[in-house]
Amino acid sequence: MMTQFTMKISRILIALLAAALIGCSSLPETAAPARQAQTAWGKTPEGAGVDLYTLANAKGAEARIITYGGTVVSLRVPDRNGVLGDVVAGFDNLDGYLTPAPYFGALIGRYGNRIGGARFSLNGTEYTLTKNDGGNHLHGGSHGFDKRLWHAKMLSPQSLELSYLSKDGEEGYPGNLLVSVAYTLTDSNELKIDYSATTDKETVVNLTHHSYFNLAGEGDILGHQLSIHADRFTPVDRELIPTGELRNVAGTPFDFRNAKAIGEHIEKQDQQLIFGRGYDHNWALNGAGSGLESAAIVTEPKSGRVMEVLTTTPGLQFYSGNFLDGTLKGKGRTYTRRSAFCLETQFFPDSPNKPAFPSTVLRPGTTFRSTTVYRFSIM
Ligand code: BGC
Repeated sequence: MMTQFTMKISRILIALLAAALIGCSSLPETAAPARQAQTAWGKTPEGAGVDLYTLANAKGAEARIITYGGTVVSLRVPDRNGVLGDVVAGFDNLDGYLTPAPYFGALIGRYGNRIGGARFSLNGTEYTLTKNDGGNHLHGGSHGFDKRLWHAKMLSPQSLELSYLSKDGEEGYPGNLLVSVAYTLTDSNELKIDYSATTDKETVVNLTHHSYFNLAGEGDILGHQLSIHADRFTPVDRELIPTGELRNVAGTPFDFRNAKAIGEHIEKQDQQLIFGRGYDHNWALNGAGSGLESAAIVTEPKSGRVMEVLTTTPGLQFYSGNFLDGTLKGKGRTYTRRSAFCLETQFFPDSPNKPAFPSTVLRPGTTFRSTTVYRFSIM
């Protein structure tokens, strides 16, 4: 005879078993074979384990992301014949990412791009940041978010949340900043990145993602066709710090309002192109302030791959891989000059020192949020 107590226990056990079964059967059915979402991917020099997470969608596209730097190590999307190819620069193993590398695939913070003189003032207090780009501060300093170990949590089989607590004073910044970034690979072949951050002390924040793309997989990127939805860009000085001017792109090599090959004007004798050794500039997006808007479209004629970038941020850095010089190798490729490009959605560089630029100040009690989508299709 079952007592009331044992009956209750068996009911709970049956309920738990049913829940587990429902949980299993609700896993998405994808064309791809079942795979392990998480695997160990080596250790940092300090001995901390780095994990690799694989997000795969129903179309067979796949993003592989590691907890070191929140780095996208590969992104496989179809070409016009349905053949999957890896469209981002990177390395075969963790060692490649541990040696000095130009932010391949990484999350960038606290501040994407440059802060002039590696300093800024907030409420009358001057903060001095790490100088890691001559006398300036680049991509969060010498130990930016790209070199940190992120805490990972799968939100769903196609969505990975990474979080990191940047301590008060890290690289010179005020406030404990709690950052969370969710990467989602949708069934529409989009890599969606949702950023959020909170602080306990007024600070500045500008988060971005630094994949280097080549939609053909290899070769130079000069034949990729690019359009950027921006009437203005922010010219820079010779150290690539914005002067503060917002310049109209009309009549300049920076006019990408209609699609043109990246290589079409890149060698023009233009002072801005000379300073950047090519394109390495921020465009002020026309859609700024209106939610998730199209920022740029890239098409690659041979593979037929198309990548559209949508974002909520006011700016977009287009970097044409000018500083790649063939010394880095990975995934069977040699990263020669202009063999990959970056489209980094962001607030404008040096905003903390440019009061007229959209503000990057984050206050306690408020949450920084931005979203960027890299949407892949074929033409
Ligand atoms: C910057 C470049 C820099 C590159 C790699 C880009 O975001 O705009 O100037 O060389 O990152 O460090």
